[in-house]
Amino acid sequence: MLSSLLLAGIALPLTFAFPTLTPNVRLPGIKWPRQENNTTEDDTCNLASLQQPASTLTPPGADVSLVLIALGHGTQNYSCASETATPTAIGAVADLFNASCAVASGSTSLGSIAEDAAAIGAHFFVDNTTPDFDIVGLGNTQAKKVESMAAPQATNVPWLKLDAQAQGTTSAVKNIYRLQTVGGVAPKDCTGHKAGDVVTVEYEAQYWIYAITEVVEARRRKRGVGL
Ligand SMILES: *[C@@H]1O[C@H](CO)[C@@H](O)[C@H](O)[C@H]1NC(C)=O
Ligand SMILES: *[C@@H]1O[C@H](CO)[C@@H](O)[C@H](O)[C@H]1NC(C)=O
Ligand SMILES: *[C@@H]1O[C@H](CO)[C@@H](O)[C@H](O)[C@H]1NC(C)=O
Ligand SMILES: *[C@@H]1O[C@H](CO)[C@@H](O)[C@H](O)[C@H]1NC(C)=O
Repeated sequence: MLSSLLLAGIALPLTFAFPTLTPNVRLPGIKWPRQENNTTEDDTCNLASLQQPASTLTPPGADVSLVLIALGHGTQNYSCASETATPTAIGAVADLFNASCAVASGSTSLGSIAEDAAAIGAHFFVDNTTPDFDIVGLGNTQAKKVESMAAPQATNVPWLKLDAQAQGTTSAVKNIYRLQTVGGVAPKDCTGHKAGDVVTVEYEAQYWIYAITEVVEARRRKRGVGL
């Protein structure tokens, strides 16, 4: 019963709300193969001059640099207190992929990361209001939502500005912007769900990740390259 409800929750948005997704995308929990050993030319991945898509969110400050654009692909989760309740957001789970080159080189469409690309990290929630981003090479970032704006289309979850919190953060990351969202919006009511059901809705988003420039440069000097 529960699994068929969950399945319906996933299958409907896949069929109707995601006409632009690549057909062979996979949900979290499925093991991704390791990346092949060929790297993309670094000069196609220059993040320094990249501008965020226009939004009403407060832009990043002068003390930070864009260090990564991650593509998140996973589910926004909601719970139903009863059949007549409105679904409540209880967080999200997503695999994160390195989309820096794809965005910097202008192929900005979501879902354009090849299926054989390896995930570089995970996005999940520590509690209902604390998003976490655990990224290889960057470290862990626990964040807090500080601003939100409606996405250009109401069928997509809002664009957000998240600020890193001292607690639980090991990275030099200061701000994370969730932009270019696709899907993830809760069903408008809990019809067909019983108390305690979790409704998962597939989504994708770009996470624009900014770290404190001074710390990034100090780490680069120490390690030679990288973040
Ligand atoms: C690796 O390089 C080969 C040959 O250039 C190319 O066909 C293949 O798509 C590349 N794989 C990845 C993951 O970039
Ligand atoms: C990948 O590249 C590294 C560094 O160039 C090399 O040491 C390693 O053997 C390569 N692995 C494969 C599977 O080609
Ligand atoms: C959210 O949904 C994912 C499936 O995408 C599941 O693995 C995870 O356990 C769910 N989390 C919660 C808190 O329900
Ligand atoms: C993302 O990919 C670019 C280009 O290959 C690379 O320079 C950068 O280190 C990667 N970032 C992370 C966090 O994996």
